[in-house]
Amino acid sequence: MNRFLDLADFSRDEIVDLLALAKRLEQHPEPRALAGKILGLLFFNPSLRTLSSFQVGMMRLGGSSFVITPGQGTWQLETRLGAVMNGAAAEHVREGLPVLASYADALGIRAFADGKNLAHDLAETSFNAMAAVVDKPLINMESATNHPCQALADWKTMDDLGIPQRGKFVLSWVNHPRITPLAVPCATVHMAAMRGMDVTVLRPEGYALPAQIMDKARAAAEASGGSLRETTDRAEALEGAQVIYAKEWGSTAHYGDATADAALRAGLADWSVCNQWFERTAPDCRLMHCLPVRRNVAVADEVLDGPRSIVQREAYNRLPAQMAVLHRLLA
Ligand code: CP
Repeated sequence: MNRFLDLADFSRDEIVDLLALAKRLEQHPEPRALAGKILGLLFFNPSLRTLSSFQVGMMRLGGSSFVITPGQGTWQLETRLGAVMNGAAAEHVREGLPVLASYADALGIRAFADGKNLAHDLAETSFNAMAAVVDKPLINMESATNHPCQALADWKTMDDLGIPQRGKFVLSWVNHPRITPLAVPCATVHMAAMRGMDVTVLRPEGYALPAQIMDKARAAAEASGGSLRETTDRAEALEGAQVIYAKEWGSTAHYGDATADAALRAGLADWSVCNQWFERTAPDCRLMHCLPVRRNVAVADEVLDGPRSIVQREAYNRLPAQMAVLHRLLA
């Protein structure tokens, strides 16, 4: 393995094998496996879990890491190809990334969507341009439309808790005061389909996931024996569900139009997960969320603090899942 950019780059068996390695490293630590290895971490956007879990993962495997946050103590980096660099950015990633790669044994990059042009973001234009100038093992730490590290940890979380491969999985849109990216919902719908689950995307009008993403997930479902559908009917979606994965994302019908998106979501305050969602039809349903989560906007306190929430386990699993990725890339 030389790159970890998308679960779709691997077969289902290869992902299952990677998860077995994560489990093995949990049970039998290898504190010298990456002795002398260095991971460079480039964050264009904030993080709590990804940043800390990658640093800790390298330390637990005997390696080390450095962190670059462009514009915060280091030069601001330009990512646009062909940019006339007469603004704030002092250096282009076409120079900066090969420099960082030359110091490290592997690089991780986090670069969120521009959020202006859906086709540009779906094509992963910015991330791919950066990946093209990195000649070392590379990890996607969240790009415009993908978050494979989160997806791998979430798959492990469901395995750990015995949630059946063919379980009913509902990815539900939830409210947020601002537009948030498509990366996690896109990665999640594909992951659950690849795992072989019966996947429902529950979302209000105006928030359908892009057809390209649904087609990719549908192909994964067909290959693994799962299924995929979408609906706006909450009661019907949640009937018999074993997992609800709550996630915020911006309107795809008004992509790049913050005013139209705000007007649409102003009437969607009831898209906030509370205990009432589960009464009668889904009493044992688990609540997943990648975090960070807006309490009492996206998910009510009563759910996050109650027994159905498995968000802490998802966050914990970022560590063993990414240790397995690092082991495969560098050991
Ligand atoms: N879920 C996740 O990626 O968390 P951070 O943004 O804190 O890294």
